[in-house]
Amino acid sequence: MRIFVAGATGAVGRPLVAALIAAGHSVVGTTRTAAKAEIIRRMGAEPAIADGLDAPAIRAAVLAAKPEVIIDQMTELAAVTDLRHFDRAFASTNRLRTQGTDFLLTAAREAGVKRFIAQSFCGWTYGRSGDPIKTEADPFDFDPPEELRRTLDAIQYLEDAVTSSANLEGIVLRYGSFYGPDTGMLSRAMIEQVQRRRVPLIGGGGGQWSFIHVDDAASATVAAIERGKPGEIYNIVDDEPAPVAEWLPALATLVGARPPIRVPAWLGRLFAGEHLVSMMTEVRSGSNAKARRELDWQPAHPSWRQGFAEVASGATAQHAA
Ligand SMILES: NC(=O)c1ccc[n+]([C@@H]2O[C@H](COP(=O)([O-])OP(=O)(O)OC[C@H]3O[C@@H](n4cnc5c(N)ncnc54)[C@H](OP(=O)(O)O)[C@@H]3O)[C@@H](O)[C@H]2O)c1
Repeated sequence: MRIFVAGATGAVGRPLVAALIAAGHSVVGTTRTAAKAEIIRRMGAEPAIADGLDAPAIRAAVLAAKPEVIIDQMTELAAVTDLRHFDRAFASTNRLRTQGTDFLLTAAREAGVKRFIAQSFCGWTYGRSGDPIKTEADPFDFDPPEELRRTLDAIQYLEDAVTSSANLEGIVLRYGSFYGPDTGMLSRAMIEQVQRRRVPLIGGGGGQWSFIHVDDAASATVAAIERGKPGEIYNIVDDEPAPVAEWLPALATLVGARPPIRVPAWLGRLFAGEHLVSMMTEVRSGSNAKARRELDWQPAHPSWRQGFAEVASGATAQHAA
């Protein structure tokens, strides 16, 4: 199939393009800069240069590519370091999720695209009461901490726009927290923060997180092209949701750090903010049962425990070389 990947150079864009090429698809991948076009070419795809917030540029790229499927993996998170001002840090990404989604959907309809798959998130977005492991049928947090409101609104906007889109088979993939070689939870920045004990364990650390290796995010996306049901949302997460009190100390050990500093919730609220305390103590994770069933997909890294260890040992080996 002819597939257009918007955001082909990102954490999931790269393994996704590689997986699509390996599966025999013909891929056009976008980047904003000519310098990164070579990365896309080297993966065996055709580069297209377009900013997701530039409607004419996106329209021209989609019309020229004539794809059957569009996969939207655009986020702008590479420069994000300070999550205390969460909505500010996510402002560009939220514009991509709202305006950018509209531009891409409009272009997709004009180009006669059949299927549209978009990136969403599985984790703190869910309501913070009841079952610690949520399904896609469970509601979003109806009263999120102030700092998360605009980001949650943008995610909701994207999901609604994609799943209710006329003349298109819209599918949303809610990926868990990413990890992989030098990305997400195992990015150089995160490893350094954990090694410097700058990621404290707040309160009891009872917040539940879901993780996904970026290669598994890519394989689920390939599966969604073939087997995803139009209008549906899928949690793309591993089999082992875990409380912060488990995964954070485990991550610290893996990267050779001392155990995380423990901070009471009241102090966390003062220094980190209500939303980060909530992420450490209250948030919920997701179940992958629907994706396993309907996409006939399973993660090659079913547990973050082994996944983190595998990636961390690669990072240590690279560091030593
Ligand atoms: N679920 C999760 O946990 C999750 C989700 C997303 C990201 N992250 C994490 O966030 C960090 C940064 O993510 P990342 O490496 O994927 O980088 P990123 O900066 O989020 O970029 C992702 C993709 O979006 C494209 N992009 C960004 N802004 C764009 C715009 N205005 N118009 C068109 N395309 C645009 C980028 O293309 P160019 O830069 O080539 O133009 C790139 O291909 C990583 O550690 C990652 O793991 C986590």
